[in-house]
Amino acid sequence: MMQMSRNVFVGTAAVLALGLPATGSAFDLGAEATIDYRQGVMRAIGGNMASTAAIVVDGADYRDNLEMHARYLVDATRDIPALFPEDSDFGETDALAAVWEEPEKFAERARDTHEAAVALHAAVEVGDDAEMGQRFRALGQSCRSCHDDFRQSD
Ligand code: HEC
Repeated sequence: MMQMSRNVFVGTAAVLALGLPATGSAFDLGAEATIDYRQGVMRAIGGNMASTAAIVVDGADYRDNLEMHARYLVDATRDIPALFPEDSDFGETDALAAVWEEPEKFAERARDTHEAAVALHAAVEVGDDAEMGQRFRALGQSCRSCHDDFRQSD
């Protein structure tokens, strides 16, 4: 009984601390949470790309972390379309309607990116610098070719 009311309190406090709306329909919150989640994943993908570039392109002295960054990119790109369910096409999103109107093309771009991430990871495992640079650029290009068609540019 004590335990339960404490959990309720902690849950409410967490919601207030994060500044999330404490009211509103579950549906609205679900869509917002989905959008927040996918933007967070995309930013994490972007962060791992930036760290990889700093090592591979600019020679930052963190080679031991390369495999970790490449592995995250492989894992996080495994199912990008799953980040874009049907009910998440409105609100604070930069996703264009084309995501839901051209799902096959979207899935193809997502697959290209995943395959490019797998190729980068393989080059990292082999330790081939020239291949790493080339595959890193190919991966970056694959991100852009999805964003060009499916993400609102600023
Ligand atoms: C299959 C399409 C697709 C691929 C591939 C893709 N993205 Fe995205 N990305 C999107 C869409 C759509 C959005 C907008 C999401 C939203 O605002 O709800 C986005 C948003 C982003 C954002 C902004 C997140 C925010 O804070 O709003 C970053 C950063 C990003 N992507 C980086 C990348 C990188 C780096 C790659 C490649 C490794 C990549 N993306 C691959 C479709 C894609």
